Amino acid sequence: MADEIEIKEIDFRYAPEITAIHRAIMKGNISDSWMQSIELHLRKQDVVGYVAIKDGQVTGYIIGEIKGPSFGLEKSGWIIALESHPNYMGSGIGKALVESIFKYFKQKGVKDIYTALRWDAVDMVSFFISAGFNRSDFINLEKHLDDAVPE
Ligand SMILES: CC(C)(COP(=O)(O)OP(=O)(O)OC[C@H]1O[C@@H](n2cnc3c(N)ncnc32)[C@H](O)[C@@H]1OP(=O)(O)O)[C@@H](O)C(=O)NCCC(=O)NCCS
Repeated sequence: MADEIEIKEIDFRYAPEITAIHRAIMKGNISDSWMQSIELHLRKQDVVGYVAIKDGQVTGYIIGEIKGPSFGLEKSGWIIALESHPNYMGSGIGKALVESIFKYFKQKGVKDIYTALRWDAVDMVSFFISAGFNRSDFINLEKHLDDAVPE
């Protein structure tokens, strides 16, 4: 099935199709800020990404970037977003997209690739494990700023 998937470099002109995929996953519940942030990402110079085309339509996308030196690493590849359309999940789109970005990172001399997931996104965790990811040496810390913080 994977041979029916065409991979193209991402472009901000794909924003409507990408938004449609996210809307289908979120069952219509998407915010304006999500749409603004995706457009912003797609217009950035240092962002890498691909879309998957199947049956003549955009059925998935991946966005990543190279950071460094940062987090104590000289150079690292980050996967910021990855989604495939619910009608096409399980048909090799996610795999084709990560393989494309792995190839890009490798060409750029990146050896270590990271992503961050919600702990309860079990489908994403399973997918990334099947793509060869493991628990990293990092931990995430969080602090919520509220009204109690003096200005
Ligand atoms: C996770 C996701 C990107 C995977 O994409 P996909 O196109 O369905 O994945 P593929 O068909 O390429 O599957 C590749 C591998 O991952 C595994 N996999 C994919 N989804 C899985 C799941 N839910 N559970 C277990 N394994 C899974 C497949 O079994 C396959 O393994 P194999 O290569 O050994 O056969 C996609 O399902 C998705 O977009 N999910 C929704 C994400 C989401 O909720 N986003 C909102 C966050 S804001």
